Amino acid sequence: VRSWRAVVDAVHRAGAPIFLQLWHVGRVSHPDFHDGELPVAPSPIAAQGLIRTPHGRKPFVAPRALEPASFRASSSSSARARRTRSKPASTGVEIHGANGYLLDQFVEDGTNQRTDGYGGSIANRMRLPLEVTDAVTQVWGPDRVGYRISPNGKANSMSDSNPAALFTALASALSERGLAYLHVRETISGPLAVPEEQRLTGRIRELFRGRLLVNGGYDLDSGTAAVGSGLADAVVYGTLFLANPDLPRRFRERAPLNEPDPATFYDGEEKGYVDYPTLAESLARGGGS
Ligand SMILES: Cc1cc2nc3c(=O)[nH]c(=O)nc-3n(C[C@H](O)[C@H](O)[C@H](O)COP(=O)(O)O)c2cc1C
Repeated sequence: VRSWRAVVDAVHRAGAPIFLQLWHVGRVSHPDFHDGELPVAPSPIAAQGLIRTPHGRKPFVAPRALEPASFRASSSSSARARRTRSKPASTGVEIHGANGYLLDQFVEDGTNQRTDGYGGSIANRMRLPLEVTDAVTQVWGPDRVGYRISPNGKANSMSDSNPAALFTALASALSERGLAYLHVRETISGPLAVPEEQRLTGRIRELFRGRLLVNGGYDLDSGTAAVGSGLADAVVYGTLFLANPDLPRRFRERAPLNEPDPATFYDGEEKGYVDYPTLAESLARGGGS
């Protein structure tokens, strides 16, 4: 807890807000994390591939379909959030509706084949994410709540038969709620790039009336262009920030960047998270970047 506090305090001292991401991984889990019980999801459809567990990598299993009653049980988490809000450390929360985790599993029809009020039509598939959003905004106030989506994202074996219809409907529904921001991960470069003609960020920009954050494969030039063209209000940098603790300075000075090392992503402890050098440290060591 002390290190968590230290990070939040340091961000606040630097004059920046900090948003805590709220998420549930749904089927992207394993019985090893649940005392042998199955993970839960909208429908019993397994993700492809392997998951890291405390006992090594194992194949994903077909999850247990959530009963609607468990949705109500989980609303007690809003009471926990109420207590969280009273803590001075956090400034807001971001609901994780992206990257193939639980709420994304509900909206996309590759993972949601329910026949109750939480599956089928787009309105039904958006029901749980919007209920969660309404519960969270009741606690925090909409101006301290963001929401993250990943249209056309393939992470964690995601798919949808009509991403354009789905994500424009979701953006409109979230817009009505007056959130602090919508955070759209739709990758523009690299191996995960979404082909330009399929991208939905531009349409989402027109539909969502609050602030729009974009993410996915941006660098200084493409990020500057996204803000300059009005596509986004801000750009979120993931791996570049991970590898460059002083990224704003490096951008300002157009200095060389450290290369992110994917071998250290997700796994392990500090390595790859707190040990990339700042520009000043690299220069002191006599290196380039
Ligand atoms: C090590 C690592 C951890 C991540 N953790 C999260 C996370 O907790 N929540 C989330 O929404 N995205 C997470 N992401 C995805 C990033 O937020 C971002 O979407 C992704 O890196 C693409 O942006 P980029 O091209 O700027 O790196 C993570 C990515 C990496 C590499």
